[in-house]
Formats: sequence, structure tokens, C-alpha cells
Amino acid sequence: MRIDKFLADMSIGTRSEIKKLIHDGRVSINGEVVQKPNYSVDIDTIVVVDDIEVHYSQFEYYILNKPSGYLCTIDYSPNVLQLIKTHRKDVMPVGRLDKDTEGLLLLTNDGQLAHKLLAPKSHVNKTYYVETDKNIPASAIETFSKSIEFEDFISKPAKLEIVSSNSGYLTISEGKFHQVKRMFKYIGCEVTYLKRTSFGPLKLNDLAVGEYRSLSEEEINMLKGSD
Ligand code: URA
Repeated sequence: MRIDKFLADMSIGTRSEIKKLIHDGRVSINGEVVQKPNYSVDIDTIVVVDDIEVHYSQFEYYILNKPSGYLCTIDYSPNVLQLIKTHRKDVMPVGRLDKDTEGLLLLTNDGQLAHKLLAPKSHVNKTYYVETDKNIPASAIETFSKSIEFEDFISKPAKLEIVSSNSGYLTISEGKFHQVKRMFKYIGCEVTYLKRTSFGPLKLNDLAVGEYRSLSEEEINMLKGSD
């Protein structure tokens, strides 16, 4: 790729600022000043700008413990991207959580992986911790284990683990709009608190609300392998 694109992707400046940096002799590779914005580099090249090394990062993967009140659509504020410090402008949430839902949100600029994980045939398991306004009937375990017919879709069998009279973990393998809230409504309960605790092989564990971290190589490989 061109060196000006390399530097723009790493948010070193706008295209015209980068052109000026190069023109002013502030950009070098292996001690040699680079004078041309179309100079060819690859993702392993270490480019130095004003004595500071710039490494190219092609793909970034994060999990965020989304706080309630944040949107997954980036055109509105406050949104989840405002919580992530990254140079890349193409990092996006993979799927959505409702504004009032907390918990595990994957964000990446790896469009191919995002597409694969969101494809309906992927059946990625997602577990939600749920609190409800009323007691969850024991029969809900069986009700959820079978398909339920909604106006616009038929849910796939899901697994409910009851924790207390009004809380439990629900694992679903799809992600229809308001799906968990609608499934509980079907059994006569309103969801009063919702938090996603796992997404495929990823677990939220003790990540604090509003905190995020990069995925490990192992987690990325597990995600890429998960069907
Ligand atoms: N199901 C819901 O109802 N809301 C979410 O945010 C996620 C799953």
C-alpha cells in the first residue's frame, strides 16, 4: 500500500497533513527519509514519524462490557465507540445490544469475521443474564426449549437456567430484534435487567462495566473457528 494510506489508516493525520509531513522530510523508513506519498510499504514496515515508530495494525478485536444507556448505532450519542480508544475508524460493533442492555459486545474492523458471526446460519450461542418483574414459571424451561412462533419469526430452541424466582440465564443461538425480552414477554414476564455474559467462545468474566480489552490470539482463533 502507499505510505500515505498506511499513515492515514493509523490516524496520523488527514491526507493533506500527511502529504505535508512527507514533504517536510519528517517521515522515514530504516533511517532513510521518504519523499514520495505513493512510496510503497507493506503492513510489516515500521514507518518513523518524528522519531516515533508507527506500526500498522490491520485488524483490531475488542470486547466491551457495554453500560446501559449507550447505543450500538454510531450516529447517535452516547455510543459504544466513544468508549474505545483506537486509531482505526473502521472498528464497529458486531451486532447490537439494546440501549438498556449491559454486557459483552464484540467490536472489530475485521468485516469478514463480523459477517460470518452474524450470518443466520452461524448459530453463535449468546448467553444473557435476565431479571424479570414476575416469578419465572418452571415451565419456561420447556417452553423455551421448543420453537416459539412470533409474528415475524420462529425462535430456535433455547436453554433457560433458572437462578432464582425472578432471574436466570438464557442461551439463544440467534439474535432477532429484542429477542430475549420478547421470549420472556411470551411467558408473561417483563425483563427488568438484561446483561449478555457470553458470545460464542467469549466470556465477560470480571470485565467491569464500561471497560474493554483486546482479544487474545487464542480468542480470535476460537472465534474464527466457531460455527
Ligand atoms: N435480546 C434483547 O431483548 N435485547 C438485547 O439487547 C439483546 C437480546
